[in-house]
Amino acid sequence: MTDRIIIFDTTLRDGEQSPGCSMNLEEKLRMARLLDELGVDVIEAGFPVASPGDFEAVNEIAKTVKNAVVCGLSRATKGDIEASGNAIKPAQRKRIHTFISTSPLHMKYKLQMPPERVLEAIRESVTFARNFTDDVEWSAEDGSRTEDDFLCQAVETAIRAGATTINIPDTVGYAVPEEYAAKFEMLRARVPDMDKAVLSVHCHNDLGLAVANSLAGVKAGARQVECTINGIGERAGNAALEEVIMAIRTRPDLLPYANNIDTTKITKISRALSVITGFAVQPNKAIVGANAFAHESGIHQDGMLKHKQTYEIMTPESVGLSESKIVMGKHSGRHAFRKKLEELGYELGDNALQDAFARFKALADKKKDIVEDDLIALVEDEAVAEHQPVQFMALQVQAGTKGPQVAELTLRVNGEEKHARVEGNGPVDAIFGAIRAIVPHPDVYLKLYQVHAITGGTDAQAEVTVRLEEHGKTVSAQGADADTLVASARAYVHALCKLDAKRTQVNPQAAMAAGAP
Ligand code: KIV
Ligand code: ZN
Repeated sequence: MTDRIIIFDTTLRDGEQSPGCSMNLEEKLRMARLLDELGVDVIEAGFPVASPGDFEAVNEIAKTVKNAVVCGLSRATKGDIEASGNAIKPAQRKRIHTFISTSPLHMKYKLQMPPERVLEAIRESVTFARNFTDDVEWSAEDGSRTEDDFLCQAVETAIRAGATTINIPDTVGYAVPEEYAAKFEMLRARVPDMDKAVLSVHCHNDLGLAVANSLAGVKAGARQVECTINGIGERAGNAALEEVIMAIRTRPDLLPYANNIDTTKITKISRALSVITGFAVQPNKAIVGANAFAHESGIHQDGMLKHKQTYEIMTPESVGLSESKIVMGKHSGRHAFRKKLEELGYELGDNALQDAFARFKALADKKKDIVEDDLIALVEDEAVAEHQPVQFMALQVQAGTKGPQVAELTLRVNGEEKHARVEGNGPVDAIFGAIRAIVPHPDVYLKLYQVHAITGGTDAQAEVTVRLEEHGKTVSAQGADADTLVASARAYVHALCKLDAKRTQVNPQAAMAAGAP
């Protein structure tokens, strides 16, 4: 058996379909490019049958990605599989992923199908998928709670029909490592043609065991790991790619598995996803949390000064985290600015570059030391804004104890400048009221408003997160600026544009829950 692990990233499918994590087409394309650069082997780009928007996103990703296999998810129906087959057509390397539930509970209540019909659906769906590509993955949804005998029958049926990857998801995050590993050992011992397909792990994190379960599955013979950046995904999320990869890299003595990931790109993609989705990473999150490499206590700092390995099991540089160096100042020119962005891995269009440079100059006037994190926040903000129908233009706010608090706001809506002057219960309320006056959205509710400082110091840029909800659909977005109120307006506008894009989408999770073929 090879020691090479296939990394199957499902940030754009299992991750994106979780509440508040939706991305528009441009954002998905950006993430797909970053995933390709990171070196993932397979990108699960979406669930094409869910909506025309999902189809288009998978199709565009298939045209864009250079190295990774592009995969589309389908239930066990011809319509789903056809949609995936058509969406991934332009990809250089393509995969169809089809799934059906196999646990007694799911078969009885969700599918309302007897086991024999489920086996028939597996045979038919995998056979049909092979008409579109030779690379077909089959998943036993709720596989970890499936009885061994039936799981063997289902897997054997899928392999006979032509499945080349067999995925056993822990769909509800219920398994513990020994039990999950035993499923893979059992399948390898009992299914006759098991060596004709790659076994795959797909773990949810409801009990905080997704990464431990994934690694246990690999030790038991799985050679594909399904995971997401920052561990985003349904409920408590999926196994975090960065945790799986850094565990393998840090403990080769116990986890001797090769992979294609360039770990120095982890921090960048983690931040990009967090800005795009508006989902902040918890500070103590392994590998990518703000505190993951911070050493506060005196004893630890003393140890680190004497020998780094006393308290550091991996270096910040290995995940692409460099010390926040002062990178530019107010005298830096456009050329240096563009070069620095290229160094940080950003390529902006001409208009976005011009806007970003103007904002950098304004920031440099207010803030003495511009560090890499400042530039990243500013550029991420511009990249998100670049293709939006509503653009933030200008803001004037009257705040303080003397009231009333007033916001005068200018937005560009579909190319036309619009103004509003609104009083509110405080400056943020006034700003959001002004946005509502320009772009009415009566059924939208503010669910979360959060501010955090990007660096230390009173001149730090603010990064604001806004979460909006409309008829059960949630979106989050971030905005950054040296002025917290401007950052607030930007974040709200980003979120509103996301919600607008989402209005045309069917909820993929609801479509999937419909389940039965
Ligand atoms: O968790 C799960 O079971 C899934 C399948 C669709 C693979 O995401
Ligand atoms: Zn899943």
